[in-house]
Amino acid sequence: MADLSKTPTLSEIEARLAAVATLTAEALEAESIAVLGRKSGALTAVLRRIPTLAAEERREFGAAVNALKERFEAAFAARRQELEAQTSGAAVAGPDLTMPARLRWIGGVHPVTRVIRDVVGIFRGLGFAVATGPEVEDEWYNFLSLNFPPDHPAMDLHDTLYLAGSADLRAAGRWLLRTHTSPVQIRVMQAGPPPYRVVIPGMCYRNDPFDASHAPAFHQIEGLAIDEGIGFVDLKATLTHFARQLFGPATRVRFRPSFFPFTEPSAEMDVECGVCRGSGCPACKGSGWMEILGCGMVHPNVLENAGVDSEKYTGWAFGMGPGRMALNVYGVPDIRLLYEGDMRFLARLARGAA
Ligand code: PHE
Repeated sequence: MADLSKTPTLSEIEARLAAVATLTAEALEAESIAVLGRKSGALTAVLRRIPTLAAEERREFGAAVNALKERFEAAFAARRQELEAQTSGAAVAGPDLTMPARLRWIGGVHPVTRVIRDVVGIFRGLGFAVATGPEVEDEWYNFLSLNFPPDHPAMDLHDTLYLAGSADLRAAGRWLLRTHTSPVQIRVMQAGPPPYRVVIPGMCYRNDPFDASHAPAFHQIEGLAIDEGIGFVDLKATLTHFARQLFGPATRVRFRPSFFPFTEPSAEMDVECGVCRGSGCPACKGSGWMEILGCGMVHPNVLENAGVDSEKYTGWAFGMGPGRMALNVYGVPDIRLLYEGDMRFLARLARGAA
């Protein structure tokens, strides 16, 4: 039996194997030399002893030493590769699990669309149907049928956007982009006999500058109620009920006399400012009120122009601006914010903050 007392035993050497996977680059090279080094490596020392063994022991012992040597070589190579991958940046380019999670985009309904849905929903609950009409109209539908005199200033180029090709003989007058949803009153009445109870949401266009309180393209919601025996009290009661449904049961409203060619008498309806509840704030410009719609009893000339017997039928109409209402409801200082599509602003509104 050879004297191996000065060299470590195989199991002593083997015990060092498990630690290789955790060594730093520097320690790894030192350990590699300590185990496999030609001069004084522990395993090399053991190998050197083999010739001194009894012939019958050499084979088995030699195979065991070589097997252990291979395991060490594999472990050193694997650890070297691992350390290299870390410093070469391969691991850095992978996902950084310590990063905070990113918020997901949550879709939302545009504030103006939300107001339109709420308004239309309230009138549907009162038995009103929804109607729509074309955005390109002619002068007859947009103005003349609605009792505008032919020289009305609203028909001027600086108020109304006219289309090229307006000489088309099928059109009564020039083609234009409708300046309000009121021409759809005429179209609804032409489409069938009374009674009518409709709301009409849609886009309108005016030759206005795009500034904090005007948009050249904007939304309106028209309302029309025509039947036998409908009076101004029905208008006031219905619109007051509507305002309290939309803004809350205690909301105060007021009607101010006004003028439209297509209603007589005419009024503007104001509701208590939803932001300050009437005490005055920037959203209502200090007045405590916001103007939300124009309304009135439909002028007999308008009924007759649409083929409705004005001796038998009466009723009322209104037109409101859901964009303006959204400004007040959400406390938004500039109407352009509603139409620019800036997702940072819209996402904030969708989460309930202006
Ligand atoms: N069409 C009017 C406007 O655009 C609003 C309105 C509609 C007023 C119906 C009375 C009745 O200002």
